[in-house]
Amino acid sequence: MGLDPRSFEGIEGDVNVSPARAEWSRRHIGVEARRWLDEDARYFLHQALSTPCLNVLAGADGIYLEDVEGRRYMDFHGNSVHQVGFANPAVVAAIKAQLDQLSFSTRRYTNRPAVELAKTLARITPGDLAKSLFCPSGAAAVGMALRLARAATGRHKTISMWDAFHGASLDASSVGGERMFRRDIGPLLPGTEHVPPPDARRCGLGCGGRCDLRCAGYVEYVLDKEGDVAAVIAEPVRSTPAIPHPDYWTRIRAACDRAGALLIFDEIPQCLGRTGRMFASEHFGVTPDILVLGKGLGGGILPMAAMVARPELDVMADRALGHYTHEKNPVTCAAALATIGHIEREGLVEHARMLGVHALGLMAEMAGRHRLIADVRGLGLLMGIELVRDRDTGAPALEEAERVMYLALERGLSFKVSAGNVLTLTPPLVITRDELERALAIVDDCLTQVERA
Ligand SMILES: Cc1ncc(COP(=O)(O)O)c(C=O)c1O
Repeated sequence: MGLDPRSFEGIEGDVNVSPARAEWSRRHIGVEARRWLDEDARYFLHQALSTPCLNVLAGADGIYLEDVEGRRYMDFHGNSVHQVGFANPAVVAAIKAQLDQLSFSTRRYTNRPAVELAKTLARITPGDLAKSLFCPSGAAAVGMALRLARAATGRHKTISMWDAFHGASLDASSVGGERMFRRDIGPLLPGTEHVPPPDARRCGLGCGGRCDLRCAGYVEYVLDKEGDVAAVIAEPVRSTPAIPHPDYWTRIRAACDRAGALLIFDEIPQCLGRTGRMFASEHFGVTPDILVLGKGLGGGILPMAAMVARPELDVMADRALGHYTHEKNPVTCAAALATIGHIEREGLVEHARMLGVHALGLMAEMAGRHRLIADVRGLGLLMGIELVRDRDTGAPALEEAERVMYLALERGLSFKVSAGNVLTLTPPLVITRDELERALAIVDDCLTQVERA
């Protein structure tokens, strides 16, 4: 297979490739990786944040990714699928065993792993959430939740948050609040009202960094003005991370109850221990009517998502709610059961909580030494370091954040920058204290390097 004549220049010239990324690629991408990147760019449809790709993977195990040139990276991003680490032996073994036993379940039949998983979700989800439906992706699960809310309330309007992401399908994009997924695609679902998210660092209502719950008041106001909202749908804690005021969700829960609206929590990325509780909503003592989970539910190997609802919402027996071909796939269900089993056996939820407290302490200490750091925050192993050029104006340090990210990549640490200037650190929950300290030391060094430049 020869090199694509357009070769790497084609990728570097792509609209989605920043100069910092192009520079990193020039220095680190070898001949073998270039070949695959060129082929990838030729045969996949291009889209923002995806293709053309940064690098080519050859392996993933535990907390590590390995590229085709044998370089290893601690993965502090993992697309939020790697709570139990990559290629977790217990999950791999469960998948292999299930493949030998029963590899698919035709509609109208059930199977043991599917029933066991639904029972397990009823046990581990908060409050009286008890009845499940499975599907292959988070976006599909969000779609099912919206459909159920409409049927159960006889209403169609929703309230969701600006800046939120709930998936890339048209229904999920309609309740999502990111321009990237909403613009230039024509009409989205009607009745999808958006409100400013409970994010004091970027308060759309001008609270100035100290949340006084005017964001909750605004949701109450819209619920009252509309009078016929089917559901409020939101992530209890955003991945940025943005952690709401402790009373925010209590206020919204009460407002939903008054207005006859359902509360849907999208815990697709934060479920299963990431925040130091099995579900992020537990930090707020609020139980939604419908909980949506996904990503790491498939053990970081298989696509798997679920909606879990209160039993009273079992109201669509005579209609279709979410007829997905792989609804009760025994292999994905076995992967999910093995994942939850591993998390419980190894005490990963408490491990994430304790490591998160330790990491937050180290990050706070770093904040005292780095002029670029404006804020550090975290809940369990969902952590963020926000960079600004100027603490007085709060001007985001966009280029600096990107430079820190690529320098860290050179040092064997991969993470994502959210909102342009927040170093977002979400390691696997199986990470050790030593590994976490090593990763934070890399971030520390890279910040020093960028500040000196
Ligand atoms: C909060 C949230 N909801 C929904 C989704 C969509 O999940 P999927 O990519 O499995 O459709 C994502 C994916 O990133 C997410 O972060």
